Amino acid sequence: MSNPSLLILPGDGIGPEVMAEVRKIIDWFSAKRDLQFDVSEDLVGGAAYDKHGVPLADETMAKAQEVDAVLLGAVGGPKYDDLDFSVKPERGLLRLRKEMDLYSNLRPAQCFDALADFSSLKKDVVAGLDIMIVRELTSGVYFGEPRGIFEEGNERVGINTQRYTESEIERVARSAFELAMRRNKKLCSMEKANVMESGILWREVVTRVGKDYPEVELSHMYADNGAMQLVRAPKQFDVILTDNLFGDILSDCAAMLTGSLGMLPSASLGAPMANGRPKALYEPVHGSAPDIAGQGKANPIACILSFAMALRYSFDQGAEADRLEAAIEKVLADGVRTADLLAEEGVQPVSTSEMGDAIVAALDASL
Ligand code: NAD
Ligand code: IPM
Ligand code: MN
Repeated sequence: MSNPSLLILPGDGIGPEVMAEVRKIIDWFSAKRDLQFDVSEDLVGGAAYDKHGVPLADETMAKAQEVDAVLLGAVGGPKYDDLDFSVKPERGLLRLRKEMDLYSNLRPAQCFDALADFSSLKKDVVAGLDIMIVRELTSGVYFGEPRGIFEEGNERVGINTQRYTESEIERVARSAFELAMRRNKKLCSMEKANVMESGILWREVVTRVGKDYPEVELSHMYADNGAMQLVRAPKQFDVILTDNLFGDILSDCAAMLTGSLGMLPSASLGAPMANGRPKALYEPVHGSAPDIAGQGKANPIACILSFAMALRYSFDQGAEADRLEAAIEKVLADGVRTADLLAEEGVQPVSTSEMGDAIVAALDASL
């Protein structure tokens, strides 16, 4: 049988820096666990624009459709701020999500014990936290029509449309309920049914799908209250199901529960392929972090944890994913910290590459 295939798209800013550390991990699994991947690499975002004049070349899109999994670093940056909207780096990522039909975006927020002190919230609020945000990723206001900037009388109007079909809500809801069944059987759905018709339909469809999962305790919450509850008492949640835009915002919010945006991985999953595994793209939740790019300061853990999710969801290597997560936990318990995780004066941060090396050493020690 041929090796599973992995397309790596490092992207912009700190994307290539954190991806270099994932490469070390991939090499380790190949050398020490005899887990080989057919790895190819290509351009996305500003890097693709610089070479091809578009943020995602058609050939790259075609490759992404064929591989077992895509791993992406980050896209965007101030250099591309003035580009026409249609070729902005972020459009490359959105095209991947849309054309691969990756409707279910899993964003776990887990607070490692060693980092409970580093969250901006009190330790007892976040210690032991383990929640999963399921964000709808291919529809909603990100893609709804009409959209654009139009002339209206003597001024312009900017328009975006929140639009959800029943089937779009149903499929992401089903993926969230399935996940809840494998976790603590508790699901909270967030929308704004008090002001948005799309929210009313969302709530109705989620309730209907919930009938197929009687064991799952389903609740509904307005998303603004959800944001508040997420920082007040995040451990009341297990699985949170929400739409594209609310999910974007709530997951950045959840990031700070874990200590840093540099800790949050994600998996974007679509329908099963011929091999039974879902179409998949893995990426850290953070962006290209232009403020620290090129300085060796980025935390590579979010990207490495994204690879752990790939091991689990695309490559049937749950035990090796556990091994990788345990290695990260050990490194953090040993006090190894990139600059984003430092709260105390006088503690010396390690560089991006030193963090990668420490995780590889912890993997070695796990054998
Ligand atoms: P950002 O996530 O890039 O950065 C926000 C803050 O978090 C910055 O202070 C940054 O230094 C810090 N940070 C982020 N990741 C970190 C890491 N791994 N280690 C240490 N610190 C980290 O968000 P932004 O500044 O709003 O956006 C910058 C660019 O990235 C924009 O062009 C935006 O569109 C893009 N973006 C891309 C993605 C993606 O590719 N998936 C996600 C979010 C933002
Ligand atoms: C994310 C990012 C993206 C989003 C951008 C870069 C398109 O913020 O993945 O969270 O808004 O979905
Ligand atoms: Mn975001």
